[in-house]
Amino acid sequence: MAEPTADPATEPASEVTLDEIVALCKRRGFIFPSSEIYGGLGSTYDYGHYGVLLKNNVKGEWWRSMLMERDDVVALDSAILQHPRVWEASGHLAGFTDPLADCRTCKQRFRADKLEDARCPQKPSKLPGEGPDCDLTDPREFNLMFETNVGPVKDTASTAYLRPETAQGIFINFKNVTQFARKKPPFGIAQIGKSFRNEITPGNFVFRTREFEQMEMEFFVPPAVAQTWFEYWTQERFDWYVRLGIRPGLLRLRPHDADELSHYSSGTSDVEYLFPIGWSELEGIANRGDFDLRQHAEFSGEKLEYFDQEKGEAYVPHVIEPAAGADRAALAFMVDAYDTEEVEGRTRTVLRLHPRLAPVKVAVLPLVSKEGMPEKARVLFEDVRRRLPAEFDEGGSIGKRYRRQDEIGTPWGVTVDGQTLEDDTVTLRDRDTLEQSREPIEGLGERLAARLDEPWASPKLG
Ligand code: GAP
Repeated sequence: MAEPTADPATEPASEVTLDEIVALCKRRGFIFPSSEIYGGLGSTYDYGHYGVLLKNNVKGEWWRSMLMERDDVVALDSAILQHPRVWEASGHLAGFTDPLADCRTCKQRFRADKLEDARCPQKPSKLPGEGPDCDLTDPREFNLMFETNVGPVKDTASTAYLRPETAQGIFINFKNVTQFARKKPPFGIAQIGKSFRNEITPGNFVFRTREFEQMEMEFFVPPAVAQTWFEYWTQERFDWYVRLGIRPGLLRLRPHDADELSHYSSGTSDVEYLFPIGWSELEGIANRGDFDLRQHAEFSGEKLEYFDQEKGEAYVPHVIEPAAGADRAALAFMVDAYDTEEVEGRTRTVLRLHPRLAPVKVAVLPLVSKEGMPEKARVLFEDVRRRLPAEFDEGGSIGKRYRRQDEIGTPWGVTVDGQTLEDDTVTLRDRDTLEQSREPIEGLGERLAARLDEPWASPKLG
């Protein structure tokens, strides 16, 4: 599907192109096209060192907001392969489809409901079906779930699916959690994990891929308070992105129109970010009602209810679901942080990430590779890294090393120089202001670690 584009007349535009982000990711080892030595495999990506650290930080902040900063959510890690009946009950087997049309001439496949976003491969000025030789089949429904087989025999009895969302793993564990976690509504079950969708038109880098990570939380509530919790979680999830530094002017909430709602939803709002491809969904918050628990109760024969001791009655809780993508969130944080500026006649590229998201917090750099500076810097590095993710870098000119750290978003650079050897102080360089101050080595790790908990706003806000 083509993503919406920004209207330059009415909307702010992203200051960075997707190509610039892709190039930075490749250059600095965040994200690579997968299977590259074999020519790549459409829209699959591998995360390199800094990409892993950044995405881990995004997921860590999500867990922090779900588990550490509140006590009404518990964690789960369910299997990717689930009983095939799960997908019958959820509606995915029958309904998780896109209509596709094949062209008998060029053998290409198109989303029949999005032909206006595609081009005829033989005559790109035409839409599929418009060229003189186009010969489209009638649309057929194509299920987006990846099929596989469990066990050695490949027949219909062994068919299983890679999960297309993590949510169903939560619903099928509702009974386990209510029994063993001793929680009562309102409470939530949170999970992060891979999901798989055989998207017909993936694209725009890691924005839409066939294998991706979701961060989903199902919040079970008494029916009477479902709307209140829906509003609460919509605001809370919007605020989470702002707290982590995304500029509020480039974020918006978009309630779905009635004809856009999924079959299970009585209300959905998307948190959208102004990506370089235009306003696009970062996360959806849905009021799923009692659809999922009722479906799984019917298909499994298990009672999926909560017994309210005070009222002496059982009921099926309603569900509010904030569903986010870890890859898409990491991409948004990178896009929002990307900046360039002229410094002493040279262009500096810098990722102005929230320090808590930055893959590396501190770079410890000996000014030169002699006079005992590397040894002194190494001792400091060993101390700092006990508290913070840190990097020791002694290769190349100091300017080059700073530029490398700027491009991976390291908020603090610590340089060990001649004066350090005399008085045990170092130069502390701030990534964003470029200010340099003299700091005692003693307690430096603790002081920088404390700064991670301070409120932070993007320097791009001015
Ligand atoms: N359980 C509800 C659900 O899965 P969704 O809107 O289909 O809802 C939730 O997915 C989030 O997962 C999206 O907002 C997006 O961030 C992420 N996501 C979905 N499909 C994706 C894809 N093909 N590639 C990357 N991220 C995706």
